[in-house]
Amino acid sequence: MVSDKNQLDFRIPAHLLPADGRFGCGPSKVRPEQLEAVMSRVTSVMGTSHRQAPVKNIVGSVRSGLTSLFNLPEGWEIVMGNGGSTVFWDVATFGLIRNRSHHLVFGEFSSKFAEASAAAPHLADPVVVSSDPGSHPAPAADAECDVYAFPHNETSTGVAMTPVRPAKDGLVVVDATSAAGGLLWDPANVDVYYFAPQKCFASDGGLWLAACSPAAIERIREIKASKRWMPASLDLSIALDNSVANQTYNTPALATLIMLDEQVKWMNTNGGLAWAAGRSAESARTMYSWAESRDFATPFVSNPAQRSDVVATIDIDGVDANQVSAILRANGVVDTDSYRKLGRNQLRVGMFPAIDPSDVAALTACIDVVVEHLRS
Ligand SMILES: Cc1ncc(COP(=O)(O)O)c(C=O)c1O
Repeated sequence: MVSDKNQLDFRIPAHLLPADGRFGCGPSKVRPEQLEAVMSRVTSVMGTSHRQAPVKNIVGSVRSGLTSLFNLPEGWEIVMGNGGSTVFWDVATFGLIRNRSHHLVFGEFSSKFAEASAAAPHLADPVVVSSDPGSHPAPAADAECDVYAFPHNETSTGVAMTPVRPAKDGLVVVDATSAAGGLLWDPANVDVYYFAPQKCFASDGGLWLAACSPAAIERIREIKASKRWMPASLDLSIALDNSVANQTYNTPALATLIMLDEQVKWMNTNGGLAWAAGRSAESARTMYSWAESRDFATPFVSNPAQRSDVVATIDIDGVDANQVSAILRANGVVDTDSYRKLGRNQLRVGMFPAIDPSDVAALTACIDVVVEHLRS
């Protein structure tokens, strides 16, 4: 918190401000066109049954749009259900892990999936390989494990890890919550790529989506056939059956689906994943080169190869980062606060494709004047 309330009166010169001041890491900037897409369906879709064509067509469009965005091979399915990525961890403990999972843990979110697996009474204790925040461990094979779990992007630390297949056997299950739509990946290295739509897809939270390979689908069917008990709301085979019929098991939020669909279309019509990831990469180049050129800023992730293009974490020296983000907020530039549990003097900046790279450049200029003010 800012101790001196007067600091909040500091005004950043208007010509330096970004056109849009939303830099959160999720919920994140929603493009106005996405809300216009909702408005254009006020009477035709909003408030209508999710079992009828108008909503099912949107679910179908999301599924086919994501299939082309990710260039998924034949046999893959986009599966979805309610509850966001957190619920997907529980879904996975019931429907994907046969006996033992292997986790690379390098931040808050990757640790939570490992905890969910450790707590599941029907599973053996997971193998957990961790590294200090700000880096990621090397992938490793373990013949005892039937699922390899790691995030594509650890949102809490701004570390990205290219998905790779550690071994021939075992499903590769990737938490892509903040990566999907903003970072490149190769389906040959992945079996389940799961995410929620409030990051690169600039929609609202509360939904989980999972791109599932034929091997993953086979695993879902195999575990279901084993008669393992699982709550229906967490049953991946029920979610799969509903998804292929362009439905969800229970009622979804319709505005979320419309906004997601609009964002996937925006990406696909502009050049697909390469284009969307290119926008984030451009923002990241701006952000990290700026931080490297300032005496008060340092990229938290020391290895450039592990720095995320979608979430930048910048350590601040000599001034209180909380003061910086509070003054930015008072000027309409919001959600640059560090991840609360990391406990560093840090700014964290969302650089999802919806965020204009020129606005990231404007943000760096705003931080410069705020820091100069605090130092004076
Ligand atoms: C990498 C990662 N995994 C999982 C989650 C949890 O997602 P949700 O809030 O949709 O449950 C988040 C949320 O920020 C995340 O960043």
